[in-house]
Amino acid sequence: MSSNADLARRRDAAVTPAAASVHPFYPARAEGARVWDADGKRYLDLSVGIAVMNVGHSHPKVIEAVRAQAATFQHLCFAVGMHESYVALAERLNALAPGRSPKKTFFANSGAEAVENAVKIARVATGRQGIVAFSHAFHGRTHMTLSLTAKPNPYKAGFAPRAAEVYRADYPYAYRHPLAELGGDFGERMVDRLRDQVRTTIGENEVAAFVLEPVAGEGGFIPAPESFLRGLRDYASEIGALWIDDEIQSGIGRTGSWWAVDRYGLEPDLVTSAKALSSGFPLSAVIGTAEVMDRIGPGMLGSTFGGNPVSIAAALATLDVIEEEGLLERAHVIGERFAGALRELGREHAEIGDVRGAGAMVGVEFVKDAAKTPAPDVVSEVVAHAREAGLILLPTGTHGNVIRLLPPLTLTDAELDEATEMLAAAVRHAVGATAVGA
Ligand SMILES: Cc1ncc(COP(=O)(O)O)c(C=O)c1O
Repeated sequence: MSSNADLARRRDAAVTPAAASVHPFYPARAEGARVWDADGKRYLDLSVGIAVMNVGHSHPKVIEAVRAQAATFQHLCFAVGMHESYVALAERLNALAPGRSPKKTFFANSGAEAVENAVKIARVATGRQGIVAFSHAFHGRTHMTLSLTAKPNPYKAGFAPRAAEVYRADYPYAYRHPLAELGGDFGERMVDRLRDQVRTTIGENEVAAFVLEPVAGEGGFIPAPESFLRGLRDYASEIGALWIDDEIQSGIGRTGSWWAVDRYGLEPDLVTSAKALSSGFPLSAVIGTAEVMDRIGPGMLGSTFGGNPVSIAAALATLDVIEEEGLLERAHVIGERFAGALRELGREHAEIGDVRGAGAMVGVEFVKDAAKTPAPDVVSEVVAHAREAGLILLPTGTHGNVIRLLPPLTLTDAELDEATEMLAAAVRHAVGATAVGA
């Protein structure tokens, strides 16, 4: 068995440096909330493959479903002949999707592909081209989706020309936003700003769709306020545009409901899902109102691997596990415990500028001073110290100064206690003992 050091050497020789990793370890085995690396070191995992293993690593039900499907048939391609499980998962997702309108679903392989397909559907369905994406957005790395993504480095820089007819509006990120300081309802103010940005830069008749993460993930775990989402829904309908709700990171129970927008009873026109949908087997979905999905013609969407039977089996088992083990409720408990512990720490340490999130999607933003200058160096230190202690964390945020917690929703109480202690120790180590106001 190779060690971390052996693997690092082989990797340098064989793998492009463009495929980077946050952590310098090489996972060898994983189960539940635990990961073991090539040197045999054990970790508690609060990253779960970037919001993928919501039901924990190697859940026996998922493994069994995958094994059974692989032994029956691996692949025939939906474009050649229909397999029943594709339809069964579509039925299931249509029933779970936000809102009451009848729904239809299309399957692809990755999150980026789901967003690409949602854009294609929106353009055909509306006969318009303009796509409005937001600051702090991440929608993927394919040509269209890197154009929708906001952050230049490392996602967009060098990849010009980017896709045409993509426009940028402001994400409702209240922390350090001047409009938040004016008082009143920040979400409503940001909808007014959006209307103004659309009218003065694109024109309302040219907008095919707004693409928005209800909780900005790579942007820094920023939940959009309810009033903003509500206002966006109304505005899109008013001008004949669609709302594409990117739930690739926030969906499948992560926020304590199937979709982040469920918390407000809102119905987008199209929802994109991937990541936790199939517990690590490549699969993504575009779920849309039947009214919109029926406007695109036969054969206009497709993919050799999209909706492959093994990934679909993993997805059906994943949805069962979430229901049977009450993981939506558990996401609330886990999220509140972490957010509470971090707020407590924030009273001791001025470097903790903001603690926010939804359900078990918790972000903590670190700053250097009262002017809220981002402190990515503190985040790097917290992440490194936690890793040494055996806790896997991930940084995030446009400025790299946010730690995102993505615990498995199966985390036990004992693991929660252990993770909270390790997290607090790593924060204390990184920020020193500077008390607020000292
Ligand atoms: C909100 C969101 N959209 C899209 C994507 C792209 O997904 P994938 O990496 O599977 O292409 C991601 C991935 O992090 C994401 O978080």
